[in-house]
Amino acid sequence: MEDAAPLHEGFGIDPAMFEYSGWNPYATLGMAERTVADAIANYSDPHFYGWAIEHEGRLVGNIGAYDYDTEENAVEVGMSIEKPSWGRGFATEALEAVLHYLADDEKISTITAWCASDNIGSIRALVKAGMVEKGVEKNAITIGNSTFDKLWFEFRGEGTKKDG
Ligand SMILES: CC(C)(COP(=O)(O)OP(=O)(O)OC[C@H]1O[C@@H](n2cnc3c(N)ncnc32)[C@H](O)[C@@H]1OP(=O)(O)O)[C@@H](O)C(=O)NCCC(=O)NCCS
Repeated sequence: MEDAAPLHEGFGIDPAMFEYSGWNPYATLGMAERTVADAIANYSDPHFYGWAIEHEGRLVGNIGAYDYDTEENAVEVGMSIEKPSWGRGFATEALEAVLHYLADDEKISTITAWCASDNIGSIRALVKAGMVEKGVEKNAITIGNSTFDKLWFEFRGEGTKKDG
């Protein structure tokens, strides 16, 4: 639970953190506490995938995989790095590790990600970690007064379906 305050302060206040996703589960300290409590409560779910990213003992980011699809054996990844730590390779390093964990250890065959077409840092991290751009939905994301194309990325593991 002690991660809730740094999550609110580092990820929930600066609009640059959710400019391209519109997703801010840390907007207030209470919301950050509920998000951490949910993660703790769901930790025993075999398809809960969430990690804190630490550097020198400090929380600098988080990464997770969401909405596991049993039929397709597929999951979607997303990540955030606090703004003062951007451009140091943290997202690329964490994503590469998570993609290989999900594909090699969890045997998930399709891992997807999306990002707004203007989110250059995200595009570069996704590609450097080994994801491949699979498609674009024109004007599919509207956040506030801005509209962006939505880029879809994919990473295919060699995994077979775990449950069947
Ligand atoms: C997208 C995000 C996770 C990237 O994190 P990061 O740790 O800075 O990424 P990396 O350091 O691994 O950067 C990968 C590349 O992108 C570049 N980059 C990072 N941020 C950039 C930016 N704002 N503008 C241009 N290039 C950027 C890095 O310099 C690096 O370049 P390289 O290819 O020359 O090495 C981070 O900016 C973030 O948390 N943004 C807010 C939340 C978000 O949009 N998440 C993505 C949703 S999928």
